[in-house]
Amino acid sequence: MTHADIDFGQLYRTHMAAAGGREKPPEEWDARAEAMGRMVGESRYVDDFIGRMDCSGCTSLLDVGCGTGAIALALAPRLQRVLGLDYSQGMLDVMMRNARALGLDNVTPIRRAWEDDWSDVPACDIVTASRSTTVMDMADALARLDAKAKKRVYLTSLIGGRFIDADVAELLGHARPALPDYIYIVNILYRMGRYPRLDYLENDNRLAGTQDFDEFVRKVAFSLGEIDDAGRARLRQWYDADPERARRGGAPFRWAFISWDTR
Ligand SMILES: C[S@@+](CC[C@H](N)C(=O)[O-])C[C@H]1O[C@@H](n2cnc3c(N)ncnc32)[C@H](O)[C@@H]1O
Repeated sequence: MTHADIDFGQLYRTHMAAAGGREKPPEEWDARAEAMGRMVGESRYVDDFIGRMDCSGCTSLLDVGCGTGAIALALAPRLQRVLGLDYSQGMLDVMMRNARALGLDNVTPIRRAWEDDWSDVPACDIVTASRSTTVMDMADALARLDAKAKKRVYLTSLIGGRFIDADVAELLGHARPALPDYIYIVNILYRMGRYPRLDYLENDNRLAGTQDFDEFVRKVAFSLGEIDDAGRARLRQWYDADPERARRGGAPFRWAFISWDTR
């Protein structure tokens, strides 16, 4: 068997299913929209992402899974046209409110899921997908990004495939296998005949920056579901054992930053 015999798209889907990956309904993201703009460590991540982009010769951007517009709004001042695509109306509403507050009139929301028909989504010079690549079918997602990019694609993918510190997850009996991560993306792009560039970013994880234990529990519950009394007690112990670690939410996120040219 050689590398050429491996269908990395299929391998990704199999891994995702085995790890219990599931598509969240958009309402779950709606509920997070207000809080997302206030995330700790946010500006460093955005600076690190944008600092690695080459926008020369580009006037338009399609930001997929744009959320509240962390990347789209930061780039809008230097572009003519910015499209933010997301399936959460709550996220799009906050993005547009932020765009108005910044005096940006070149940002357009597109309410759409990764899996929907994109035939009417305009192609743009640059396509980004920042922290929004936890999809069930990666080969399909990459083909979509590639097809909509006239020049370049930039995305981030979590390294290690865990959105929650492994120790915290284990305390709540969620010691599931990690989700498939960036290494599939590199291999699928290779098979697509693209030449992916690879870099790495680090930032605070999803549980970072909480003010107190209750807020911490709410953040854990968003990712892992309802927490019973026994789980809450174990979390309390973990939280109190090292308050500084608890404020960081455990281990930091490490992102693979992947880009490629489409022509
Ligand atoms: C972690 S947020 C990232 C937001 C933004 N790109 C950033 O870096 O701050 C993930 C976003 O992907 C969106 N999303 C999740 N699943 C999606 C799907 N199937 N189709 C479209 N958007 C999706 C969510 O609504 C959310 O806004």
